[in-house]
Amino acid sequence: ASLAHLNTLRVDARANLLADIRDAAKLPELLDFPAIRQGRLLVLGEGSNVLFTDDFHGTVLRMSTRGVQVESDGDSARIAVAAGERWDDFVRWTLGQGYAGLENLILIPGTVGAAPIQNIGAYGCEVAEFIESVEAWDLRERRVVMLDHATCAFAYRDSLFKHEPGRYIVTAVRFVLPRSRALRTDYAGIDEELARMGVDKPAPFHVAEAVVRLRTRKLPDPAVIGNAGSFFKNPIVEAATAEALQREHAGLPAWPQGDGRCKISAGWMIEAAGFKGVREGDAGISNRHALVLVNHGQASGPQLWALAQQVMAGVQARFGVRLEPEPVVVGAG
Ligand code: EPU
Repeated sequence: ASLAHLNTLRVDARANLLADIRDAAKLPELLDFPAIRQGRLLVLGEGSNVLFTDDFHGTVLRMSTRGVQVESDGDSARIAVAAGERWDDFVRWTLGQGYAGLENLILIPGTVGAAPIQNIGAYGCEVAEFIESVEAWDLRERRVVMLDHATCAFAYRDSLFKHEPGRYIVTAVRFVLPRSRALRTDYAGIDEELARMGVDKPAPFHVAEAVVRLRTRKLPDPAVIGNAGSFFKNPIVEAATAEALQREHAGLPAWPQGDGRCKISAGWMIEAAGFKGVREGDAGISNRHALVLVNHGQASGPQLWALAQQVMAGVQARFGVRLEPEPVVVGAG
């Protein structure tokens, strides 16, 4: 089966078998088929955070389950959401219902089930803050598990699910969303955008609108040009390392993490190393945002990966910093 339409980098890779999951309750039975049980398994939502560097010699499960259930409501609501729901649809629904919390996370591609895996974040917020628990099928224990917030071990673009790859299939996420909260607008130009919009007492939907405007200007739309959002994580280094780098490279943005470490801007370093807007065949680095690897048309997985590695080597040579890819890089195995 072709995966070309199941990954937003539009890599024309193939899988041995593709199964569309519409009912999470049927997972155990499906996973019991010998052909599936004995081979490799890859779970995909919208494929907006994956780079295939080869054909995948195994089974791809596409999570297409639907359902949003308000379990309790008051000053805050507890809401259980099926893994296959589109993240952005869910965010817009919560705003429409008058729930706050997810406004900074509007317009992020992907599914609800994928959100906890890399702990999606943008504009000073991370989804982890609003996740009470994650329901998953545990392939090792062969049972449904309910993983509470602490067990999920959320961190910057990280969670338990990244530490135990292949063990869990996320089937639903339970959120707790307040009716109101202190809005986070002091990050990455939101305040300035609200001012341009003429809003001085913002509601959550105003913040969401400001984020939509910022993202639309900065990030290439995967519906127009193949990409997987940020292809690299912002590296987290010791504060002393960040200071030394800033002395040597004036203007390098750094954000203290409150634990003696500093997050530094990968996009800035990639741009300074001369990679913004470069193109090797159809593989490229976006000319809008240096963190974004783009497919201008027919780039293959290996071509995209080669360019990504060139960027990593360039940043390493110039800054002595090792960049890590943010998406899951999937080879033949
Ligand atoms: N910058 C450059 N050149 C560029 C891009 C950025 O110099 O081409 C510098 C600028 O100084 C800019 C700073 O980097 O002010 C920060 O840029 P931006 O606000 O775009 O944020 P980011 O750190 O590059 C992160 C997330 C994005 C998220 C934005 C907004 C990661 C890996 N990426 O990018 O998430 O939308 O913040 O908060 O943490 C994603 O994960 O796919 C994603 C798009």
